[in-house]
Amino acid sequence: MPFSTAGSATPAVRFAGTGHQALWQTADVLPPAAPLAVDIRDLRKSYGDVEAVRDLSLTVARGELVALLGPNGAGKTTTLEVVEGLRDPDAGSVRVLGLSPQRARRRVGVQLQEGALYEELTCREILGFFARLYGYSLDAERLLQLTGLAGLGGRRTGGLSGGQKRRLQLALALCNDPDLVILDEPTTGLDPQSRRETWALVRQLHEEGRTLLLTTHYIEEAEALASRVVIVDQGQVIAQGSPAALIAELGGAVTVSVLAPAGAALGTLAGVDDAAMEGDRWRLRTGDAGAVLTALTARLGQAGLRGVTVQGPTLEDVFLARTGRHIATGTETAA
Ligand SMILES: Nc1ncnc2c1ncn2[C@@H]1O[C@H](COP(=O)(O)OP(=O)(O)OP(=O)(O)O)[C@@H](O)[C@H]1O
Ligand SMILES: [Mg+2]
Repeated sequence: MPFSTAGSATPAVRFAGTGHQALWQTADVLPPAAPLAVDIRDLRKSYGDVEAVRDLSLTVARGELVALLGPNGAGKTTTLEVVEGLRDPDAGSVRVLGLSPQRARRRVGVQLQEGALYEELTCREILGFFARLYGYSLDAERLLQLTGLAGLGGRRTGGLSGGQKRRLQLALALCNDPDLVILDEPTTGLDPQSRRETWALVRQLHEEGRTLLLTTHYIEEAEALASRVVIVDQGQVIAQGSPAALIAELGGAVTVSVLAPAGAALGTLAGVDDAAMEGDRWRLRTGDAGAVLTALTARLGQAGLRGVTVQGPTLEDVFLARTGRHIATGTETAA
């Protein structure tokens, strides 16, 4: 059972299948559950002249896994920092697990976008230290194992690779057996294998009944993980829903991808709504795949065109349709 029974000293037994002993132990009396894990209303936050968050409203129900997706500078981190109690709002209200962000902190686990580690401490020591700050004792070795750091308990944090530090910061976010887990770009800097392992852990945390709120730039990460994606742009929520529902709203738009030289000027082909070069591939967005494929077929054999693939719409197309810009680059469409 999760650690929600007020006054109970029964240790939490989560991460079923990873061992028989509890990972966390505490004798804390915890507040009663609130229906909403996060309730943000009309949040505004500026830094001098920069309006980072502009009337942003967002609720996250208990047990949801929500991803904030948006380009650089959209206001994602600022929003999370207010939820984490690290910044005060200029206007609007924020409740976390039914409490003020400051009072909710004990029940919230946070992986900051950039966080410093005590470089002289070993991984085991820093996990134990953080857990004790929250009033927990912790099986650090199991938490290290769960976050892909098995065998590194005795390593000083200063001697970890960039990806290992990111994993340790994820482990630190779990030190207090949190009800709400906030992860600001948890997989940035991780190799593809580590990214998939982190996805598996995020899913596991969700299956245990925890609420997760994360940010990502990776379209495929938001699509793969989140039950609800909230697209944020220029400090506001511009769309939200399940990835499938958001994509379905676009209708039949597809992306035709083709290997071609940069000078092939495929943006002018019949039926192409938007064309962009990614690596050595052109990505042609269209609502009329037949017209584009016909035009491409006529030019196949010329100018080194080959390797044509057709892909259905993604959340990138949702962002493009709503803002006229690409999520990754922030650039305007070429159409
Ligand atoms: N401490 C700060 N002082 C001044 N401006 C800031 C500060 N932090 C953020 N900003 C500005 O506020 C806006 C929102 O930044 P924020 O970090 O919340 O965006 P983000 O969506 O998390 O971006 P990214 O995807 O790059 O992490 C940006 O224009 C940024 O330059
Ligand atoms: Mg950020």
